Amino acid sequence: MNTDAHVNASVAVPLSAPSFWIKDLTLSYFRSYTQLSLSLSSKSVVLTGHNGAGKTNILEALSYLSPGRGLRQAKLGHVTSLDAENKAWAVYAKFAHEDGEDEVGTGLATPHDERRTVKINHTVAPQSDLPKITSIFWMTPQIDQLLNEGMGHRRRFVDKLVASLYPAHTQHLHRYEYALRERSHLLKDGQGDDVWLSSLEKKMAEESMAIHSLRQSFLSQINPLSLAPETAFPKASLSLEGFIEARANDMASLDIEEALAKTLRQNRVDDARTGEVKWGLIKRLLIFACGTQKKAEFCSTGEQKALLLSFILANVRLHVREKKNAPILLLDEVVAHLDEGRREALCSEILSLGVQSWMTGTDVDAFAPFGDGVQHLKIKNGQIE
Ligand SMILES: Nc1ncnc2c1ncn2[C@@H]1O[C@H](COP(=O)(O)OP(=O)(O)OP(=O)(O)O)[C@@H](O)[C@H]1O
Ligand SMILES: [Mg+2]
Repeated sequence: MNTDAHVNASVAVPLSAPSFWIKDLTLSYFRSYTQLSLSLSSKSVVLTGHNGAGKTNILEALSYLSPGRGLRQAKLGHVTSLDAENKAWAVYAKFAHEDGEDEVGTGLATPHDERRTVKINHTVAPQSDLPKITSIFWMTPQIDQLLNEGMGHRRRFVDKLVASLYPAHTQHLHRYEYALRERSHLLKDGQGDDVWLSSLEKKMAEESMAIHSLRQSFLSQINPLSLAPETAFPKASLSLEGFIEARANDMASLDIEEALAKTLRQNRVDDARTGEVKWGLIKRLLIFACGTQKKAEFCSTGEQKALLLSFILANVRLHVREKKNAPILLLDEVVAHLDEGRREALCSEILSLGVQSWMTGTDVDAFAPFGDGVQHLKIKNGQIE
């Protein structure tokens, strides 16, 4: 359901009302909240309050509506409210959409559980079923670490996005990693016979090709989307460099697969010594600020944040376009780091995306460009005012 209208804000933009949104949210014994119940409209949500008020805790609760370890990657036991007195934490959300409603609950069934339980419409379900209801994407102040730390962080970040569009990606990654671990053990113990090692290397090469193909497909879709709109954001462009990428233009897939298996075989001695794979899947994952062709590592902190935000927005746009797993966007303290032009650009983007976005900040004035296009919730002493 898309409606063209103008919001009563200092930035007038076409408003695309979300056709999928969180209508009710309840937290029990979740960090600073013993109990919290929110009833919401489809508009995006702005949470303001002083430091320690409990803004990020709400976003973290929402992040558990997607698979994985949540926005803080916290130990599940740390999430339990310090006042829980042997009660277990839970997050419950009711999603509204054109075809009706869906209810998702997650939390610990008993306080000392090591795994969280998920229920979709009152039935226990695996975490991997959560994307059938929604995909939750987030950006936190820590995100620029992604660009300044090792390649593994970037790869995991991109693979998570690829998997949200193509769920089979996760299985390919698991199978690759399983074969990789098994090969490493055999090489370390010096007991693998040639047939066994060769079959694992063949498997790694096959899975590598499948992973490569889904990653490239994702990039070919997201890069133009990141480049399309004329906003104050730097236009992010992402590219991969690695064994397969270096050969993709000149060789047939099957030949690359064979070459990869052969190279793995040739590198057994080195890999046994280092405990790693010399020809890893990806050597470099580059994120550029387009136009300047400036690599992300050479951007200022503000530029890096804007670049990653641009990329995350492009990803949400891609999900909206593909009508995949209706997304919810969480932006923790993001607005505070943007200059005025970029704040207004973000406002236009959020209001026209047609996605319920949850944003936090200490300063309500930073959200002035959103006008009444968003719903404001002020948190004080762990309660919504
Ligand atoms: N398990 C827990 N039980 C009780 N309180 C907790 C728990 N974990 C964290 N807290 C507290 O929750 C409070 C709110 O944290 P939160 O990160 O949501 O604040 P915030 O509003 O985002 O603040 P900031 O503006 O500094 O980012 C903090 O005071 C924190 O100590
Ligand atoms: Mg916070």
